[in-house]
Amino acid sequence: MASHNNKRVHIATFGCQMNAYDSKRMAGMLAEMGYTEAQGPDAADLIVLNTCSVRRLAEEKVYSYVGELKRLKREKPWLIIGVGGCVAQQEGDRLLKRLPHLDFVFGPDAVTSLPELVTEAMQGKRQALTKLGPPARPGRIIVPAEPGLRAMVTVMTGCDNFCSYCVVPYVRGRERSRPAGEVLEEVAALVEAGVREITLLGQNVNSYHDPDSGLDFAGLLGRVNEVQGLWRIRFTTSHPKDLGQGLIEAMAGLDKVMEQMHLPAQSGSNRMLKAMNRGYTRERYLEQVRRLREKVPQVALGSDIIVGFPGESQEDFDQSLSLLREVRYDFLYSFKYSDRPFTKASRIEGKLEEEIKSARLVELQALQREIGLEEHQAQAGRVEELLVEGPAKHGRGLMSGRSRAGRVVNFSGPPELAGSLVMVNVTQGRENSLAGELLPATGEYKA
Ligand code: SAH
Ligand code: SF4
Ligand code: F3S
Repeated sequence: MASHNNKRVHIATFGCQMNAYDSKRMAGMLAEMGYTEAQGPDAADLIVLNTCSVRRLAEEKVYSYVGELKRLKREKPWLIIGVGGCVAQQEGDRLLKRLPHLDFVFGPDAVTSLPELVTEAMQGKRQALTKLGPPARPGRIIVPAEPGLRAMVTVMTGCDNFCSYCVVPYVRGRERSRPAGEVLEEVAALVEAGVREITLLGQNVNSYHDPDSGLDFAGLLGRVNEVQGLWRIRFTTSHPKDLGQGLIEAMAGLDKVMEQMHLPAQSGSNRMLKAMNRGYTRERYLEQVRRLREKVPQVALGSDIIVGFPGESQEDFDQSLSLLREVRYDFLYSFKYSDRPFTKASRIEGKLEEEIKSARLVELQALQREIGLEEHQAQAGRVEELLVEGPAKHGRGLMSGRSRAGRVVNFSGPPELAGSLVMVNVTQGRENSLAGELLPATGEYKA
């Protein structure tokens, strides 16, 4: 029997929060087998890559990372290397053929098979497990020994939306909701271990429905809101086409649900939205934003925008710029369109030149920096509740926390405040954070 004792693992995670969540699960399963965390790949006996395929650049990173591991494997022939995540799903067996120093490949639905894959690799078996669909081994609830203050919990996997540019439905498979009971059990276990803020994850949380009871996402939020000892709830991602009044009311009415929403628009042009198969128009999107702000006036809105989708004209792009001006997002992720395998958009004629896409991205990001800074400056004078995380990254002696809307606020205060809720008066808005002054102790939830 192969032994895993005294062995060290390094997990390299790429991509979105779904992967970050899966990596935590992998680390938990490997810890149960006796693996401890290695300080980087050089010190590891097992290296697992959790990969992303959403843009070409993300996929290329995987090949260069694995390429560099060839040398390590030559020095340490017992080193085991496995590739999981979305590139694994997309490429399957081909990865084993292309990269002879790889031991195994596993897709997102095979995460629970990782222990067997590692054991069999030690016995010399090379294999790719990329069957999509309910995992052969049901998932268990895995809680890290020291999970920290904030944690993620997946409420649904996969996606059925087939936006024309997006590889996710092909590499993550069909949409599946986790039973509410399982979600609640995991939340409660994390809270028991010290977690105070939970982010519920899914590619499209608005279409959540409990496979047993039919409970929708607003209902699920209501149930999570009741978990004793939990202080804060966030969720991502909301698809604008499915943002119903029920969820808006839940956000407004549930005290633990934070005033923050990631509502990716992708484009401000109706022509592009149609070609992207997003299922809403600019007007309907703006109407959703208006309805949300009416009930949750302090909500901080975030978005994703793709520039240079095939056929995007200057006028289409101008519409994305004007959407930014109209909505005034608090945070924005923006990307140059990238051709992905299997997708409809990759087969459209009329791709834009790289220089055009780059110039548009620069222009969009410059505009957002301006708007973001103005929005941050407009926060000055407000009193905010912060969950204090610890010392500020830049700024000696300062402490840092997040407001209900998710903004980083730095303030001067004692390190003992880490892990508690405090009130601050915002004194200044900067590009990526706010500055605040600690107000006399409240710590209402801290008991
Ligand atoms: N489910 C989420 C998005 C997941 S992918 C949603 O629908 O909003 C994260 C982001 O990557 C997307 O919102 C999109 O902006 C971007 N993206 C996806 N495919 C892309 C592609 N082919 N090229 C460029 N950006 C892409
Ligand atoms: Fe991709 Fe669209 Fe699904 Fe988001 S909703 S994961 S962009 S297909
Ligand atoms: Fe990337 Fe897969 Fe997430 S493609 S963005 S890691 S779902």
